[in-house]
Amino acid sequence: SAHRAGAAQKGLNEPREGYGQTWAKTILIGEHSVVYGHPALALPLHELKMQAWAAPAAPDETPRLHALDYDGPLEQSGERFGGLRRAVEVTLKFLGHSGQGFHIRTVSDFPAGRGLGSSAAASGAVVRALLDAYQVDASQEDILNLTNEAEKITHGHPSGLDAATTAGEQPVELSAGNMRSVQPHGAGYLVIADTGVAGSTKEAVEGVRSRLQADPDGVGQLLDSLGQEAQEAIGDLEEGQMEPLGEHMNQAQDLLNALQIGHPQLDHLVEAARSEGALGAKLTGGGLGGCMLALAADEESADRISQALKDSGAKQVWAHQLVA
Ligand code: MEV
Repeated sequence: SAHRAGAAQKGLNEPREGYGQTWAKTILIGEHSVVYGHPALALPLHELKMQAWAAPAAPDETPRLHALDYDGPLEQSGERFGGLRRAVEVTLKFLGHSGQGFHIRTVSDFPAGRGLGSSAAASGAVVRALLDAYQVDASQEDILNLTNEAEKITHGHPSGLDAATTAGEQPVELSAGNMRSVQPHGAGYLVIADTGVAGSTKEAVEGVRSRLQADPDGVGQLLDSLGQEAQEAIGDLEEGQMEPLGEHMNQAQDLLNALQIGHPQLDHLVEAARSEGALGAKLTGGGLGGCMLALAADEESADRISQALKDSGAKQVWAHQLVA
């Protein structure tokens, strides 16, 4: 890619409009403890796309951003798009084209700020759109590094799990900084429901960090236990053991609540899913709101749980077959 980028710099590739696509992700288990090196597993949700377009701006044009409800100058897009601006900056620097402006547009099938990886997905899609604008094939590793640079603005200390999953084909396990793709087995469905409550992942991650500093033994023990549940759950997923997997999800939910990143509406939806026969249910992602996740044994059970979640006030519900 260094060679291709160099070629672009010499003007062999004039930029055209570029396109990039990523997906939503859901963390099956291990959020938060993954920040401290414990294992976690996340799955791409290929049915929920994030798309980005990057169109070269003429020298006399102000680069614009059109994303979510914002439509205006890129530079004035405010704190919530800080990660996205950083994605543009680091990618153009990587390409050797810092001086070229781009109009950026993103379109998402899923809500932002709900623990579905919207920020990493948007940054990853923008990185890809800019590479595509110059027809540069960067390595997967370069793309992940650029996306993670953007995630640092949004999240502070990203584990890298979101960036990897929102671009991948397969579920990803991250453990002690090592990434591995995981092949799930077993006939199960995930039902994901949005509480409609915005939860800040950055706030949640910082909250856990300050509680860990205040009580290293107690909070350290909670994080170790979460890591243990995740480790066993990942084994169950690979072996298609749905019932024990669900139990580990339930245990993880208790531990996440003990870490104080829960929310009453998450608990409410988790209870609704369990009473309708979910094998397990927990929050997913950053917490403090956002989405919850339930494991259903089969399609019929997934339908019943989806309906119960809607009846209990979920803003949106998606079902995802574990093995398509
Ligand atoms: C956010 O989707 C997942 C967290 O574990 C943070 C991270 O992994 O960077 C809460």
